[in-house]
Amino acid sequence: MSTPGPAATSAPAARYRLVSAAGSVDVPRLDEHQQQVVDHAGGPLLVLAGPGTGKTTTLVEAIVDRIERRGARPDQVLALTFSRKASEQLRDRVTARLGRTMTSSLSSTFHSFAYGLVRRYSPAELYAAPLRLLSAPEQDVVLQELLTDAPESVRWPESLRAAVGTRGFAREVQTVIARARERGLDPDQLVELGRAEGVPEFEAAGLFLTQYLDVLGDQAAIDYPDLIARGVIEAERHRDELREQFRHVFVDEYQDTDPSQVALLRALAGEGRDLVVVGDPDQSIYGFRGADVRGILEFPTDFTTTDGSPAPVVALGTTRRFGSRLLRASRQVAASIGVTGAIPAEAYERFRHPEPAANVYGRGIPMVK
Ligand SMILES: Nc1ncnc2c1ncn2[C@@H]1O[C@H](COP(=O)(O)OP(=O)(O)OP(=O)(O)O)[C@@H](O)[C@H]1O
Ligand SMILES: [Mg+2]
Repeated sequence: MSTPGPAATSAPAARYRLVSAAGSVDVPRLDEHQQQVVDHAGGPLLVLAGPGTGKTTTLVEAIVDRIERRGARPDQVLALTFSRKASEQLRDRVTARLGRTMTSSLSSTFHSFAYGLVRRYSPAELYAAPLRLLSAPEQDVVLQELLTDAPESVRWPESLRAAVGTRGFAREVQTVIARARERGLDPDQLVELGRAEGVPEFEAAGLFLTQYLDVLGDQAAIDYPDLIARGVIEAERHRDELREQFRHVFVDEYQDTDPSQVALLRALAGEGRDLVVVGDPDQSIYGFRGADVRGILEFPTDFTTTDGSPAPVVALGTTRRFGSRLLRASRQVAASIGVTGAIPAEAYERFRHPEPAANVYGRGIPMVK
């Protein structure tokens, strides 16, 4: 977390990056659907597209258009991604296209953006020491210590008693509490859920979560799910200020969002604000970490326009990385994931049946044996 997000300070320090000289960067000739995304007048927009259809390219062009043609200041643009590498690449591509350096960081991972929010808004006296992000091994140590049998330890249901203290059990507990927090449940709500549904394991997990968060608080530490959860609280609390600051929000790989990240976006860019997200529901890779593929399919109804209608959807229909045989094979596998959520049929069809673009290997005609 050495790179704080754009929100880390109210007056971000100047940041310079070396970029190649303007003019050496190719300006892509966008296809009809890519252009539609760039020309989107404002408000929420979902761009649905398969691998190699130019999603990130389109996002870069849309950002460049906001800044160059529509006069947005770079510090009013926020592009969120899931990995630091993706965030750096996006920033470098936009910087290269603009042909100038920027003083704002423009793109950020969800986690580093949330970290910036927490740092910016948390009263200093709340934490004895500067807030520190807990690494995965450190988190394991805290969990293991809390799971050892001590008088103050949580009493787990009889059926689980034999497993307590094993590594596998610690992992299970960690998963349950992480999933609960990604879904916005606090410890009391997890206890409540356990009682209401008659699941004593959840009840015990809720009590355990209280202890776990207390220990983190004592150490002025924070873990990844907690980072987003606190980011959401701060974003909701300072919604108007943040919306004024970040007028154009973009998300790459939207299929990897979990519900707490969607909540963060809602605070930043809900109610019909300018929010362009691109993603491929077939490529959801963070399922194990709580990402919910339904998130992308429900985007149109989660983020409605100012008049309350569902967000429009554009599907990119030209794939540029492989020919028709590979394309057909990959779509056949993916087509078995037959959920469409709130996606209009026409956009879904184009997403499902993209055309290969002509490339150095030809038009993607099947190879002759
Ligand atoms: N309109 C275009 N004309 C020519 N080439 C393009 C166009 N759009 C994208 N490309 C090229 O196609 C390739 C894939 O583009 P890009 O990385 O933007 O796709 P993506 O959909 O984000 O891929 P991934 O699924 O890996 O995230 C890149 O080499 C890019 O330069
Ligand atoms: Mg991409």
